[in-house]
Amino acid sequence: MDGLDSLRSTWLEKIAGAADEATLEEFRVAAVGKKGEISLKMRELGKMSPEERQVAGPALNALKNEVNAALAAKKAALGDAALDERLRAEWLDVTLPSRPRRQGTIHPVSQVTEEVTAIFADMGFTVAEGPQVETDFYNFDALNIPGHHPARAEMDTFYMHRKEGDNRPPHVLRTHTSPVQIRHMEAHGAPCRVIAPGRVYRADYDQTHTPMFHQVEGMAIDTDISMANLKWVLEEFFTAFFGTKVRTRFRASHFPFTEPSAEVDIQCSFEGGTVKVGEGDGWLEVLGSGMMHPKVLQAGGIDPDVYQGFAFGMGIDRIAMLKYGVPDLRAMFESDLRWLKHYGFGALEAPAVHSGV
Ligand code: PHE
Repeated sequence: MDGLDSLRSTWLEKIAGAADEATLEEFRVAAVGKKGEISLKMRELGKMSPEERQVAGPALNALKNEVNAALAAKKAALGDAALDERLRAEWLDVTLPSRPRRQGTIHPVSQVTEEVTAIFADMGFTVAEGPQVETDFYNFDALNIPGHHPARAEMDTFYMHRKEGDNRPPHVLRTHTSPVQIRHMEAHGAPCRVIAPGRVYRADYDQTHTPMFHQVEGMAIDTDISMANLKWVLEEFFTAFFGTKVRTRFRASHFPFTEPSAEVDIQCSFEGGTVKVGEGDGWLEVLGSGMMHPKVLQAGGIDPDVYQGFAFGMGIDRIAMLKYGVPDLRAMFESDLRWLKHYGFGALEAPAVHSGV
């Protein structure tokens, strides 16, 4: 058969010079594909005499095999080259330092809430919670603050809107954590020992007041609870919290939900413009407290002839400022990253009962 030698050299040359896999595939189709040049040649075998075919058949087959082998070899070579190229292009230096990530801090209020919880947990108090949007029943009436009571006006309450024509009394943003007393008594009865930390709201704003702030409520109910228990628990708490012996001063006061009532000051000195807790002969008010009013126990479904309880409400932000030297309450809630970095805590500074932090 004529022309096989030139066919071989043409195709082997083309295959060798193929620049990429797509070109190579074109060459494969044109040479050994169904209508490829070599395939067409093979069809001619049918028209040959047996003698001619005996020579041309093996020669054509050999050519076809050779071209197929060259195609396969080139394909492998191009594949390797493509991979090499990718490896070069997608090279990555895994030893480079990672991008800096901003690290957050634990807010002093969160930290102090954890500390308070740890200390009271050690004295057998569990944690209760209630809603921040409260009914006026839980926030006022059940706590022996009826509609006409001046305490309602004094609380600078935020009222929620009602739909036009809806004449039910509006919900309020709770003005204190005391409504949790009622909710907890209703749900769990007596005896009990709980604290209820959380956010509270009053329309007030100056260096020592923000419209949102934090309180922790405390409540202990049993058949033999007295003011003496209250005083011991609070002194024990302050001493653990500030890490030093703290004296307290109980001043007679008035709350509608306690009788008798006392405001509690802690001992501190004000020398050199800084407040030091647990020394000196100054006093700082940190909480309101008293023996739970019989009407409040009743509102919670508890028989005041059998049970008594003490309750207190303490400003968390206030004691956080005292312990960690924060001068202005308002800065606590401005989300200034520089402030948060300075006063915030690392995630691993877990509060423990006696280390103070
Ligand atoms: N709820 C009072 C307040 O916010 C504090 C308080 C709580 C007083 C419990 C007595 C008993 O001022």
